[in-house]
Amino acid sequence: MKKILITGGAGFIGSHVVRLFVNKYPKYQIYNLDALTYAGNLFNLKDVENSPNYHFIKADIVDGERMMQLFDQHGFDSVIHLAAESHVDRSITNPMEFIMTNIVGTVNLLNAAKHYWKNDFEGKRFYHISTDEVYGSLGATGFFTESTSYDPHSPYSASKASSDHLVRAYHDTYKLPMVISNCSNNYGPNQFPEKLIPLFINNIRNNKPLPVYGKGENIRDWLYVVDHARAIDVIFHKGNDGQTYNIGGHNEWTNIDLIKLMCKVMDEKLGRAEGTSEKLISYVKDRAGHDLRYAIDSTKLQRELSWVPSLQFEEGIRLTIDWYLNNQEWLDEVTSGNYLKYYEKQYEER
Ligand code: NAD
Ligand code: TYD
Repeated sequence: MKKILITGGAGFIGSHVVRLFVNKYPKYQIYNLDALTYAGNLFNLKDVENSPNYHFIKADIVDGERMMQLFDQHGFDSVIHLAAESHVDRSITNPMEFIMTNIVGTVNLLNAAKHYWKNDFEGKRFYHISTDEVYGSLGATGFFTESTSYDPHSPYSASKASSDHLVRAYHDTYKLPMVISNCSNNYGPNQFPEKLIPLFINNIRNNKPLPVYGKGENIRDWLYVVDHARAIDVIFHKGNDGQTYNIGGHNEWTNIDLIKLMCKVMDEKLGRAEGTSEKLISYVKDRAGHDLRYAIDSTKLQRELSWVPSLQFEEGIRLTIDWYLNNQEWLDEVTSGNYLKYYEKQYEER
């Protein structure tokens, strides 16, 4: 019987990972540790909160002593580490929170795992969830592979790169069993509406301007969040110790093409005349250090662990839009209060 600590389980991707593990593995005990920052929302896990193998712990990974105490108390044998500050724009305004959570918090977890597992690494695993943004920016051609050199540009990606290096260092120095995956941009239900897709769905719904950074020519490789959770399941169980796996959807879109597609689908769903929502597009000041293109080569994961994405993007984006339109209460709840202050600061000056 496994005792898995999943950090950041109340967030976007974490909640999908927790749901998958709680439902698929009733014999595992799943401990969701989350500080419930602005991005954490226990409502995301309403459907599994009463499952006998699910436990919630409110804690901050920056608190190293608490991490030690929790390992001591619960005897976790595995960690799936997703807790992080995750939004590039916020990292530009406030880098220090990213240093604390993404770097110091990760080291606190590594130290606790190393301390409690040191006499017996058998059956133990520290799985660190990372991003393709550590690789930097691509030109018009090529893909990120597992051997692409790190070249992060934002405080967010630099903090994630740093945590990746530290996880590898604990493997090489102390033999801590670990695995890392670097995934492309995720989309789907429960994503906080600061990221492009849910932000724009919410703005289209409310007839608010759609703030496109620069010319909208930047390219992202989008993967449905449930497919990321499936990949995490496969890598957690079958990935080789010390290895890195890239996860991506082979699904590149320029921002502007993606935004136009969302406008078209939402016109249909909201019963608006075709072209109505596109009129909300507003080109604003570009993001500082804006990476041009991300694109993942996930051949290793496909070849070694037989993972492939299950959903085509056109279907995934429709499912996602439907979810937000059917869960307006969730959207209204998370876009009230502090969100309004964030939104004003982020977009008024542009
Ligand atoms: P998110 O911002 O939606 O959720 C982060 C979660 O971590 C929240 O529940 C938050 O409360 C929690 N958290 C933040 N600081 C904490 C702290 N100090 N202690 C404990 N909990 C804390 O993020 P997400 O988009 O779900 O991303 C999850 C992970 O996946 C991150 O590590 C991110 O770098 C990585 N990732 C994200 C994407 C993406 O497209 N969103 C892509 C690749 C990798
Ligand atoms: P985002 O969802 O923040 O993900 P990331 O920066 O981690 O890739 O942004 C996706 C793309 O959309 C990125 O090129 C920035 C762009 N973008 C906008 O044009 N306007 C916005 O308001 C936001 C949030 C993002």
